[in-house]
Amino acid sequence: MILPGGTIGILGGGQLGRMLIQAGRPMGYRFHIFCPEAESTAGRIADTFTQADYNDFEALERFARSVDCITFEFENIPSDSLNKLSQITPIHPKTNVLHICQHRQREKDFLKSKQFPCVQFEYATCLESLKKAVETIGFPSVIKTAAFGYDGKGQIKLDSEKSISDPLALWETLNHPDRVVVEEWIEHKGEYSVVCARNENGDKASFPVSENVHIHHILHSSTAPAPISDGITQKAHTLAEQLADTLEVVGLLAVEFFLTEDDQLIVNEMAPRPHNSGHYTIDACHTSQFQQHIRAITGLPLGKTDTHTPAVMVNILGDLWSKTPPSWNHLFKNPSTQLHLYDKGEARKGRKMGHFTVLDKNLSHAQKEAEALFLELKA
Ligand SMILES: Nc1ncnc2c1ncn2[C@@H]1O[C@H](COP(=O)(O)OP(=O)(O)O)[C@@H](O)[C@H]1O
Ligand SMILES: [Mg+2]
Repeated sequence: MILPGGTIGILGGGQLGRMLIQAGRPMGYRFHIFCPEAESTAGRIADTFTQADYNDFEALERFARSVDCITFEFENIPSDSLNKLSQITPIHPKTNVLHICQHRQREKDFLKSKQFPCVQFEYATCLESLKKAVETIGFPSVIKTAAFGYDGKGQIKLDSEKSISDPLALWETLNHPDRVVVEEWIEHKGEYSVVCARNENGDKASFPVSENVHIHHILHSSTAPAPISDGITQKAHTLAEQLADTLEVVGLLAVEFFLTEDDQLIVNEMAPRPHNSGHYTIDACHTSQFQQHIRAITGLPLGKTDTHTPAVMVNILGDLWSKTPPSWNHLFKNPSTQLHLYDKGEARKGRKMGHFTVLDKNLSHAQKEAEALFLELKA
């Protein structure tokens, strides 16, 4: 067990790292951020900060020796680097979990081999095999680069035969990837996610299911507890916990689902770390996902996960900045609204700059209020 006072090393300097620090600091933990960027939102508030490349083995070794355990907030860390680190200091979740979740084909192969419900898929490594894969899957479908994709980046939806008339152009748009996955497009009535924590003893605790709305493939809002039947809620929790057990996750596992017209839950993807759709837990739950991750990786007992008030979380993207920042004063018209800005500097289109959460005992009031506040911010 790593008790408060211990030092946690985090690979990655983004907002998830920042929020881990913000959750663990009141409990007495110290944080060492390792990332390649000189300026980062997590690095700026860390106790110790190392700026080095993820392939810099000397820097990685110094980092590993300076902390009691290591976790990550960013998934694209090379396996060799993780293996090197894990020889010196425990990494949670384990290297093999990240290895599976950071690569769409390995992730889908894992889901299929363990018989979890997932989309039909084929993979391709060249133009020839791409054409074959699309023929097998049919339309509509979506091509995704196997590695390095996030927020819909590295994805192209294929609506019909016409959309693949020029595979070379598609390949170029995707930046000549080593490998792509072609998936059937699932017509769904909703997208949901569960953030589940698991510790070394195999204890598990799931946060309430969140209902997620995406705009242009980027998460726009999360509503929790999701207004779905107890049966579907139970099923989503069971699937997430079975996945966490099968992968032997120590830490958090976030699982994204599609809910089909006939109420089947299909696993879309997994992330072994805090997840954007779990940000509502900071303001709405007894324990936040960030504190829970720290509890799980340090070996503390897991915290209570239920919501004290239903919540709607809305992402604030760089798109909302014009020459000036959005008018924050609109948000505070509602006294329950909680604003979280990540202090990221330049506001670019699609860049996650912050989020806000509206709390209300009545979930549909919270949803209406959150949308109204978002529109005012946009205006
Ligand atoms: N096979 C699919 N069927 C239907 N919608 C999809 C499919 N794949 C992706 N999407 C849509 O695109 C979003 C982003 O895709 P996802 O695979 O979750 O990648 P990432 O979140 O890593 O960018 C999903 O949340 C969903 O809205
Ligand atoms: Mg996703």
